[in-house]
Amino acid sequence: MAAVTAHQTTQKTLGTANAAGGAGSTAAAGETDAAAADHLAAFDAAVAADERIEPRDWMPDAYRATLIRQMAQHAHSEIIGMQPEANWITRAPSLRRKAILMAKVQDEAGHGLYLYSAAETLGTSREELLDKLHAGRQRYSSIFNYPTLTWADVGAIGWLVDGAAITNQVPLCRCSYGPYARAMVRICKEESFHQRQGYELLLALSRGTEAQHAMAQDAVNRWWWPSLMMFGPPDDASSHSEQSMAWKIKRHSNDELRRRFVDICVPQAEALGLELPDPDIRWNEELGGHDFGAIDWSEFQEVLKGNGPCNEQRITQRRRAHEEGAWVRDAAAAYAAKHAPAQTSPRTPASASASAPTSASAQHVEETA
Ligand SMILES: [Fe+2]
Ligand SMILES: [Fe+2]
Repeated sequence: MAAVTAHQTTQKTLGTANAAGGAGSTAAAGETDAAAADHLAAFDAAVAADERIEPRDWMPDAYRATLIRQMAQHAHSEIIGMQPEANWITRAPSLRRKAILMAKVQDEAGHGLYLYSAAETLGTSREELLDKLHAGRQRYSSIFNYPTLTWADVGAIGWLVDGAAITNQVPLCRCSYGPYARAMVRICKEESFHQRQGYELLLALSRGTEAQHAMAQDAVNRWWWPSLMMFGPPDDASSHSEQSMAWKIKRHSNDELRRRFVDICVPQAEALGLELPDPDIRWNEELGGHDFGAIDWSEFQEVLKGNGPCNEQRITQRRRAHEEGAWVRDAAAAYAAKHAPAQTSPRTPASASASAPTSASAQHVEETA
């Protein structure tokens, strides 16, 4: 949370049309065409100069909408991503492994919270985003629709899935939108720990018994291709990439990041004593990187459509967790209402909980305010 909110807008003011923050429109009420053009020019200049756009700055509607969509999908992925690994907490092979896995899964919850908070600075709310996730109107990363069949999957997820996430997310630390960029700094540090714990877990299995080595290899075989798909469709089929790069939300194309990831993984697989399940991987002297085999994009499309092995299970569990957590949100809202003077916390009921405070706690605020 601190990573998201500690920096307030100090660098610049790009205009005052939407200075109240929130989901303002490109042309505020009564704004002339000339004023709108000025705002756009100032926005473009700030992006070109690599300055950060802050919540109170003017920004185009499409930029705001793109960020909300991307940050929501990212936040949803963090919290849905807790499920496949949480599946192994009770079956971790030692207390040390259990403690590490619990810390890792808890980190993912934290990542979700930073990102929902960062998205809220754009004028949406966590409740609205969660409602959209639960209604199937917003997505999470397809990778989490695959099952974790063995303990080695925890290692493969850490090494490959968190590894792919880092490759994707390190450039987001320089994203043009300030709150998103700052949230990513902390998230990437934690993702590094996740990647290393996965690598270390696989190394232990790879150097263990024959059966342990085989289990590690099987997990890598199953997670390798879905990890490559995490970077999104090929550049020529990616609908959002070009504009996102122009806005400096994205800094590198999907294919560029995917190649970077393969280059990182090849020597690490060798050090692990494990094979990547792609006979076409080979060094390309000319490119200074590795060539690799064709990705089965029809599988990606099927999972995206909801036909992956665990789509139904993941969303059902998420909805159930949300319903079962209603009392926690109610309690937090009641507590916030009780301890914050009503006139100085206009956002309390909406931001602290999906539910309004109970009438008893609301009354308590009135009596003590
Ligand atoms: Fe994460
Ligand atoms: Fe992670």
